[in-house]
Amino acid sequence: MPGKIILGSIIPLNWMNIVNRVALITGISGQDGFYLTEFLSNKGYDVHGVVLLGQEANCHPQATIHHGDLSDGSNLGAILHSVQPHEVYNLGAQSHVRFSFDIPISTANVTGLGAIRMLESVREHQQQTGREVRFYQASSSEMFGRAEKSPQNEHTPFRPRSPYACAKAFAFWQTVNYREAYNLFACNGILFNHESPKRGEAFVTRKITRAATRIKLGLQERLQLGNLDAKRDWGFAGDYVEAMWLMLQHDQPDDFVIATGETHSVREFLHEVFSYLDLDWEEYVDIDPNLFRPSEIEVLCGDSSKASQSLGWKAGVSFSELARMMTDHDRQLAETEKRMLDAAQSTG
Ligand code: NAP
Ligand code: GDD
Repeated sequence: MPGKIILGSIIPLNWMNIVNRVALITGISGQDGFYLTEFLSNKGYDVHGVVLLGQEANCHPQATIHHGDLSDGSNLGAILHSVQPHEVYNLGAQSHVRFSFDIPISTANVTGLGAIRMLESVREHQQQTGREVRFYQASSSEMFGRAEKSPQNEHTPFRPRSPYACAKAFAFWQTVNYREAYNLFACNGILFNHESPKRGEAFVTRKITRAATRIKLGLQERLQLGNLDAKRDWGFAGDYVEAMWLMLQHDQPDDFVIATGETHSVREFLHEVFSYLDLDWEEYVDIDPNLFRPSEIEVLCGDSSKASQSLGWKAGVSFSELARMMTDHDRQLAETEKRMLDAAQSTG
């Protein structure tokens, strides 16, 4: 690999290019924020994050924290001016689809208007300083909604089916518009579902791995779920944050679908996890009608061939590996919980 010699050692040129680079991440206390901070820190980036008050403990220890709120926006410009980032990743959102039906207005405010608040701050900062700031918008496969075609790619029309998806579609088009109107280096990553041991416990995969491992150790008896027939294209969050970064290193700003290309039902995920623990899921699961959505997306499946050709990206972790990785992690959590409970019972 070509490189420059510094103090007798060869430093690869691609590494030289990203030393001293600075990234600003909104939503850094979430699942993707954690993996992206780890990924960028390993590349030598100085990573900063916008964090709601009280969420500091969920952030990666490598991140420098700035308190801010996407639903307010007063200090977002000031944060940008103090951090002087080369890249901004807008991951902050009210990201729970079911919950967005209960709080549609605040979802629109944070998930939709939050994106335009960030875009405006970036545009102003770039205009005032003359420095290029590259912008990543966390767009979602939810925007495809009731898609007419499967698998979905960058040309599939959006047909959103939730307040969350409508807010994301708004943010998507604002990002495209800032690229076209102001020449901003702004990209949409249209990411399909991605999971990990850091996934929030209200999302179905993590809800299942937490419950199954607790059931296995006798800490819980039953698991309540909604629609088991829904199918999603599930990948590993650690793979997907690399795609975000690759988009901002591309020579042109563009929009990319990121997915595995495989789709599986909630029922299949249940089977994968429970059978890995030598359990039969049908003995433990109850269907709760309250957990169904007013409007549901039955199937999502992505075609990420554009990302594969232009960015050299492809998913690395399979459905089965993902389910096992999450189950192994949550089994350890359950074992710790059990030990603490046993210790408390034996002393009390
Ligand atoms: P997540 O775990 O829910 O993280 C969302 C982050 O946004 C959290 O850090 C949250 O803070 C923060 N946030 C919420 N309200 C905010 C506000 N008013 N101001 C500033 N920050 C706020 O989501 P994720 O799975 O990491 O996903 C990252 C992004 O990608 C989200 O925009 C999501 O909609 C999008 N996306 C996710 C997937 C997926 O499958 N994971 C797929 C496509 C797109 P708290 O920690 O305080 O809640
Ligand atoms: N959360 C949840 N809880 N979902 C359930 C349950 C349950 O008890 N039972 C069945 N499901 C079904 C939902 O109806 C849905 O069809 C599927 O499981 C997946 O639900 P979630 O894990 O909540 O994810 P999502 O697909 O709605 O949204 C996630 O992926 C989007 C990308 O497609 C979120 O991460 C979004 O932020 C993201 O944009």
